Amino acid sequence: MTKTALVTGAASGLGYELSVLLAKDNYDLILVDIDETNLVKVKSALHDTYKCQITILVKDLSKPNVANDILNEIKSVSIDVLINNAGFGLFGTFSGTDWQRESDMLHLHILTTTHLTKLVLDGMLQKGSGKILNMSSLAAFQPGPLMSIYYASKAYMLSFSEAIANELIGTGITVTALCPGPTSTEFQSVVSENTVDNKIRFNMACPSKVALYGYNAMKKGKTVAIPGKFNKFLSVLPRFLTRNRATAIVRKIQDKNRNE
Ligand SMILES: NC(=O)c1ccc[n+]([C@@H]2O[C@H](COP(=O)([O-])OP(=O)(O)OC[C@H]3O[C@@H](n4cnc5c(N)ncnc54)[C@H](OP(=O)(O)O)[C@@H]3O)[C@@H](O)[C@H]2O)c1
Repeated sequence: MTKTALVTGAASGLGYELSVLLAKDNYDLILVDIDETNLVKVKSALHDTYKCQITILVKDLSKPNVANDILNEIKSVSIDVLINNAGFGLFGTFSGTDWQRESDMLHLHILTTTHLTKLVLDGMLQKGSGKILNMSSLAAFQPGPLMSIYYASKAYMLSFSEAIANELIGTGITVTALCPGPTSTEFQSVVSENTVDNKIRFNMACPSKVALYGYNAMKKGKTVAIPGKFNKFLSVLPRFLTRNRATAIVRKIQDKNRNE
């Protein structure tokens, strides 16, 4: 029987790459994104190449109750894989950044992810199987001055995913938090939209490789997936430092790599 995957933020970057991997594995797809133009292009490209069934839903996932709307629209379709990937970043001091943008980020990263997970999990529990991949970040492992809300929201994603992964042991359902470092997608230009110098000097990972790493980790039911040896090292480094020191190091990196 054909399995179905629901991917948010599927119109670009990591969400697109994850959708390609699912299509290659013969999943039917429900692709959700705010960007209708790219979503339509992705639908036609994947359908032409892989011949899978693709439903697209154009949704602003930062709006209240959007998870309910999605479940109402897909009605009886049972979801085998849920990928909560949509997200964006925002650079700047907390006192200077735009509240509406931050409120949208908190809704998108925290409320919609959590609500969609709860709603989809219900069907997965009835079947006794399912895979959930939540897009966290290397940012989850320490506070992030100049991107304070982004880092905090990704820490929520990681903590939430690890906790429910534990609760779900023995149910046939696994939850994976994917924690990439800087990756070459549209994300970086969105983060830096209000910086004078958009030239980011982080070493960027390739999105298709990051997606493949996360996809394989999800298939194996791994709880936390950190692509790249250096990123793994960075994820444990804060444990050997004081919280203040770890925070100060992130501040230095942000100052060095982005100019306000
Ligand atoms: N790239 C990195 O360095 C990096 C590192 C660690 C984690 N991540 C995480 O990876 C995930 C995917 O990001 P990406 O790098 O693939 O960036 P991306 O190329 O910008 O893709 C994100 C997609 O999500 C969509 N989206 C944004 N806000 C939305 C909303 N309110 N409702 C519905 N869709 C929305 C975007 O549409 P628009 O383009 O129209 O806004 C875009 O299609 C994010 O959660 C991000 O935090 C990225």
